[in-house]
Amino acid sequence: MSHENETRPQVTIPQLRAWVAEGRKLVMTTAYDSVTSQLSDAAGVDIILVGDSVGNVCLGFENTLPVTMAMMNHHLDAVARTKPRALLMGDLPFLSYHLSIEDAIRNAGDFIRRGAAAVKLEGGAKRLPVVRALVDAEIPVMGHLGLTPQSFHAMGGFKVQGRAGEQAVQILEDALRLQDAGCFSVLLEGVPAELARKVTESLEVPTIGIGAGPHCSGQVLVTHDVLGLTQGKTPKFVRRYVDGFGLMTEALIRFSEDVRNGAFPSTAESYTLPEAAAQALQHWQSSKSDPE
Ligand code: KIV
Repeated sequence: MSHENETRPQVTIPQLRAWVAEGRKLVMTTAYDSVTSQLSDAAGVDIILVGDSVGNVCLGFENTLPVTMAMMNHHLDAVARTKPRALLMGDLPFLSYHLSIEDAIRNAGDFIRRGAAAVKLEGGAKRLPVVRALVDAEIPVMGHLGLTPQSFHAMGGFKVQGRAGEQAVQILEDALRLQDAGCFSVLLEGVPAELARKVTESLEVPTIGIGAGPHCSGQVLVTHDVLGLTQGKTPKFVRRYVDGFGLMTEALIRFSEDVRNGAFPSTAESYTLPEAAAQALQHWQSSKSDPE
């Protein structure tokens, strides 16, 4: 188990490249607040993504479409304040890079000013001008292909992409184009493992997979999924490493019982009143009860 954060150097994009060249798999998790950031960093993950999945994971939305830049900045700030050693990446939300290139640079630049070292955006060929402009503005970009949650309506829901030959070729072509446009990495979500392998072998930049099989250069999962905090049905690619929801509910049940039966707080969990203050209280009470 790794808790070596104090001695770990700050993770940079050249460092990620070097690790991949050495054959080391990259690890990425999501964080939306200081707790999930500190957990991820204490575990020694390489990349922390402040994902727009904050919408469905933390804010109760059904998908990521309602998430705005203001929401993202709020969560990115909370994560950035913990100064993680992992590379901090901000996820550009729906409509933050679709309206104009100027708007995209302003929004991505906002993430960088707040402490992110890179941004992620969804889409292939249509996004190339934006990717080029961001890279020109010295903003490192991770592309995101396959099941792109911001295309929820266009895809007709969360569906595995790239099963049809034409779509598979499109994803491979888009990945190559994103690399040419300057992306330092491409995230592949919800695609068949063999397609992700083909993309990974065809690119020089690393791929990060989620529901994309074992052949990518690295893997990402939503931290709340890894910790078993997510309720309801999760996709088959999610591996829960602990029943966090069960453990935490159990702790809260025990707290409730202790409060109700008087076992909490104990003397050791309470502050004592100094003698002088006790006497002052006593004196005040007596003066109130004394008839004038
Ligand atoms: O927002 C998010 O959590 C993502 C996942 C694919 C990691 O983009």
